[in-house]
Amino acid sequence: MTRIELPEAETDGSTSAERAIATRASRRSFATTPVALTDVSQHLWAAQGVTHVADGVEMRTAPSAGATYPLVAFLEVASEGSTQLDPGLYRYKPSDHALEPTLETAIHDDLTTAALDQPVVGDAPATIVLAADYERTCSQYPDHGERYVHMEAGHAAQNVHLVCESRELNSCPVGAFADAKVADTLSLPDDLDPLYLVPFGYRPTEQ
Ligand SMILES: Cc1cc2nc3c(=O)[nH]c(=O)nc-3n(C[C@H](O)[C@H](O)[C@H](O)COP(=O)(O)O)c2cc1C
Repeated sequence: MTRIELPEAETDGSTSAERAIATRASRRSFATTPVALTDVSQHLWAAQGVTHVADGVEMRTAPSAGATYPLVAFLEVASEGSTQLDPGLYRYKPSDHALEPTLETAIHDDLTTAALDQPVVGDAPATIVLAADYERTCSQYPDHGERYVHMEAGHAAQNVHLVCESRELNSCPVGAFADAKVADTLSLPDDLDPLYLVPFGYRPTEQ
């Protein structure tokens, strides 16, 4: 598989931040409709997209202690989960706003098992997995770095939830999973630890 350039993310929308905050909820059911690349693009940008450059550093949508940016966002796509992406795993490249395929086989069943068989993961057409390279932040902040990384994951995940809400998609924070099984399923390199799963997809028609 070759690298996938994502459509440019929108930086405006028809829902106010206040409205998205007021109506956001953990939503655990999804339509079976595959997710369009425009929505994939929008949610990965919300998690870790580049907004501007300051002092030569690419700043991102979520704040980061000392701009150390320890987070890496992956996209897991289920079978029939996306209109333009094959099932498997992709690494989001913020600088290029592109996806780099990392696993070319479906891992959805294994990811669901690793997430303690939660239906919210099993039923989702796509899941953003936030992983962290703790060393990037802890080397600069030995006392508080670990805490900072966790705070940052919360920021990134909340961005995704609010953009989902704004665009009327469903998403749910998932922190209950077997760390080693998720790392193994994703074949994560040794310097990355999985922190957060954000399954998302379109709303079922009855909602
Ligand atoms: C760090 C964190 C981990 C969570 N893990 C899970 C999870 O594994 N599975 C799940 O269904 N919901 C999970 N949730 C969602 C909570 O159950 C939910 O946020 C809470 O019930 C409040 O509901 P609301 O999000 O609709 O306001 C998690 C939420 C947070 C913040």
